[in-house]
Amino acid sequence: MPGSSRPPLFTSLLLAIAAIGCAEASSERSQPEGWDSAVQLRPARDLDASPGVVEVDLTARVEEVEIVPGTRTPVWTYDGGIPGPLLKARVGDRVIVHFRNDLPAPTTIHWHGVRLLAEMDGAPGHSQAETPPGGSFTYDFVVPDAGLFWYHPHVDSAAQQGNGLYGALLVDDPDEPAELGDELVLVLSDIMVHEDGALGDPRAGGNFGTLFGREGDQLLVNGRLNPVIEARGGLRQRWRIVNAAKSRYYQLALAGHRFTRIGGDGGLMERPVETEMLVLTPGERADVLVTPRGAPGATLPVRWVPYDRGYGTTFQRPEVEVFRIRLADAPEAEDAPVPAVARAIPALDPAAAVRRVDLKLTMEEGEGDLVMGINDVPFWEAEPLMATVGDTEVWTVENTFDFDHPFHLHGFFFQVLGEDGRPARPMEWKDTVNVPVGGAARFVVRYDNRPGMWMFHCHILDHADAGMMGMLHLVR
Ligand code: C2O
Ligand code: CU
Ligand code: CU
Repeated sequence: MPGSSRPPLFTSLLLAIAAIGCAEASSERSQPEGWDSAVQLRPARDLDASPGVVEVDLTARVEEVEIVPGTRTPVWTYDGGIPGPLLKARVGDRVIVHFRNDLPAPTTIHWHGVRLLAEMDGAPGHSQAETPPGGSFTYDFVVPDAGLFWYHPHVDSAAQQGNGLYGALLVDDPDEPAELGDELVLVLSDIMVHEDGALGDPRAGGNFGTLFGREGDQLLVNGRLNPVIEARGGLRQRWRIVNAAKSRYYQLALAGHRFTRIGGDGGLMERPVETEMLVLTPGERADVLVTPRGAPGATLPVRWVPYDRGYGTTFQRPEVEVFRIRLADAPEAEDAPVPAVARAIPALDPAAAVRRVDLKLTMEEGEGDLVMGINDVPFWEAEPLMATVGDTEVWTVENTFDFDHPFHLHGFFFQVLGEDGRPARPMEWKDTVNVPVGGAARFVVRYDNRPGMWMFHCHILDHADAGMMGMLHLVR
């Protein structure tokens, strides 16, 4: 054993040098000043100082904003900017939102992924009436789960959300391992803006636009075009990402780097997974760790890579740089080891299902505006599915299209089933799942005690608006 023959003095010298190295690295274990200022989200102002309650005012209104440099675009905003303010709460908090609608159209707010009461879900005609222009509504709910959630309208969704109405709601769990990484909340979206700054037509491209799903031509990260994050090489970052685009799938890559995905829609996963590309369908969230590395001063582009979501969706589409990481002019820092991330997620038992729900995503043949549906029925003609509080169900959502569809269920998390019919590993709670071309998505869901009317739909909002939406009526 060569090691054992080393003189003790030599060994202790090495240890001493290593210790100095560590001390140096740890004293510099911080990001550059203002490292994330280019992507900082405006925080919502908490009007209630008491712990356990987050109370905010939120107004939807049209505001002229600079998207394309040198032009003004009259976008639809929450509190004057895209995205809306970041709402931050702790798991178990009560969140009160005094919403005011100063838009020229009725609207609601839906709290995507939050297990709240149906009355607060923002589904017009079911849980609440539309809030008319000049009207207001108070949302008041508890956030029972940690994770990244988001809010957006549920009236004329493709147009309203596409015009800029969306924001993030981050629910922290103080018991999560500390030092996962320096945190960024990244709201990815896109918007259609002409050269002169005019907002694109939400009906652009007619039926083909609807079928394809309209994607904006400007890719935004926290409302900004290609922002630059300053980072210290070697230091781990934790990105909390939501895809708030109305149709665009986000597939992200950072050359020479891997992402460690630790969570998704409903908080942390059972255990992390390593991946080179990160895919988020509209509505999905990801919680990832990434450690930027490279020469001091180097710029690392984070790219949108075309994702093949079916017929023609990658054809002649270049990659797009969505944001950059500029490494500080300093040697790579030595970060603390990744804390263990593990979460015990109880598997739902598909065999306990009292009912199988078979849904087909469909399109109607015919003249005029393209009509889509679920089981051949557009939502305006659909009868709600019935279920009882406490039921477990297995849903199979089948795709009859040449396009993928991101399928979303309001109010409840589910577990996606693998080929073997068991919850896919590593397990995670999801509320949005991709239904691939020529395939199906299967999941198991158990309804807790929150009766009411819950929506489910494709989160390509042009599809939802064209009819691909339905309701689940949960009774006691
Ligand atoms: Cu983001 Cu009806 O959902
Ligand atoms: Cu939702
Ligand atoms: Cu769809």
